[in-house]
Amino acid sequence: MTTSFSEIQEPFKITSIVNQNSYLVGGELKIWRGDTSNVYSTISSTKDYKPTLLGTIPTLGKKEALSALDAAVSAYNKGQGLWPTMKVVDRIACMEKFVEQMKTKREEVVKLLMWEIGKNLPDSEKEFDRTVEYIYDTIEDYKQMDRNSAKFEKNSGVNAHIRRGPLGVVLCLGPYNYPLNETFALLIPALMMGNTTIFKPAKIGVLLLSPLLEAFQNSFPKGVVNVIYGRGRTIATPIMRDGRVDVLALIGNSKSANALQNEHPKSNRLRMVLGLEAKNPAIVLPDADLDLAINECIAGSTSFNGQRCTALKVLYVHEVVVEEFNKRFSEKVDALKFGNPWEDGVKLTPLPEPDKPSYIQGLIDDAIEKGAKIINSKGGDTTENYIFPAVLYPITKEMRVYEEEQFGPVIPVIPFSDIEEPLDEMADSNYGQQVSLFGKDVKTLAPLIDTLVNLVCRVNLNSSCQRGPDAYPFTGRKDSAVATLSVHDALRSFSIRTFVASKDNDYNNAILKDLLDSRASNFVSTDYIL
Ligand code: G3H
Repeated sequence: MTTSFSEIQEPFKITSIVNQNSYLVGGELKIWRGDTSNVYSTISSTKDYKPTLLGTIPTLGKKEALSALDAAVSAYNKGQGLWPTMKVVDRIACMEKFVEQMKTKREEVVKLLMWEIGKNLPDSEKEFDRTVEYIYDTIEDYKQMDRNSAKFEKNSGVNAHIRRGPLGVVLCLGPYNYPLNETFALLIPALMMGNTTIFKPAKIGVLLLSPLLEAFQNSFPKGVVNVIYGRGRTIATPIMRDGRVDVLALIGNSKSANALQNEHPKSNRLRMVLGLEAKNPAIVLPDADLDLAINECIAGSTSFNGQRCTALKVLYVHEVVVEEFNKRFSEKVDALKFGNPWEDGVKLTPLPEPDKPSYIQGLIDDAIEKGAKIINSKGGDTTENYIFPAVLYPITKEMRVYEEEQFGPVIPVIPFSDIEEPLDEMADSNYGQQVSLFGKDVKTLAPLIDTLVNLVCRVNLNSSCQRGPDAYPFTGRKDSAVATLSVHDALRSFSIRTFVASKDNDYNNAILKDLLDSRASNFVSTDYIL
């Protein structure tokens, strides 16, 4: 594959680098004078290929990591902290202050998203806007939750005032493919519910958070949001090993989630909110509308180069239509435009992990050795920072690409004659997030849907898989997730029901009345937030 280098236009050019020389702990942006790591983009700024230096970040150690933990623990202050005991309206005001400032940083964040992870301009803008919307939706949902609990219940002579309370200290770790959205989809609900947090950005997609550090600092009480930089093994491991983390919130892979979880000395105490790997299949039935199925499979398998946990990572196509499907699908893949993220109409963009092209090449070589072919003409064409999506056919269970979550540009196609084949393989697989089902005849679809909903957590009828809209539950079975995220479910996942109960008698009822009238408690309150 040849790409012609085109001069980078002004608003997208890197004119200065970001030296992130501080980290946020205990409300202070602490200046770091120790070791730093360079942050490179795999996108070249020059005609002769060379990664572009974007900036530097602190390489913090165990001591700094534990100081962030101390700050989060002391902000929670055994449940007495300002944040966990704050009135709902006041907590919302802090969140609103944050999001208002965040909105002013859109341009900077979007530019860094493109350079750091190679996401194209429309998708980078969408990631930012969707995150802002997520924060507003979270605020609204939390208000509704608060309204629903602004009351007393009475059962068997016991009055109860039931709300959802925070869990404590949350360690948040996000992924590189949605370094803003997915991380904030953990961090924001965790904060909203009154938890205190330590947040470590993903290994790629780090600098784009720099423009938001001051907003974190001035919107929340000190120690409520702590942001640290460095290698997971060096800084997340000691935090978990310490035992004072109450919730591990991680979007990434099950290997790191298991390793971190195993460090915690009291596994029964640790709650987990995890979004993990997936290998979502598409199943194309003989009566499927092929144009529709092909378009959706293109979007599902190639958007952001397949680097989405919801990407279609294997296509099961019925043998009656597979030849036609392969021909038209391959042509469409070859027609996708590769280029730098800000270029018009670009669908395929540089891969942010320098070793990804060779990993994908390894999957291709292995499949070819075991009998598959690349069926599109550009498949496997390589440049310094890219490998063009190869459509591989026919794929069998013995091939690595059948088993491994490729998380990149390679598309395995498996022919089937009996629907039991994909169903059995899905049941045997380690993953269980979503499926895309293409077909029309309800007599075939009905029993299939009834089975598939028990194997995954979302059956997408005649469309590719996706997380959104964020009002819907996002979860998975087996190695794909722990807990459920959606705007509403995330607030539940980061909280626990807790309540005040009292026997229904004059003595207690007078006290309750006094508590309400005096407005002395932030928890016992029937105030209705409009
Ligand atoms: O990487 C996993 C993301 O949650 C996928 O979200 O379906 O909106 O791309 P998306």
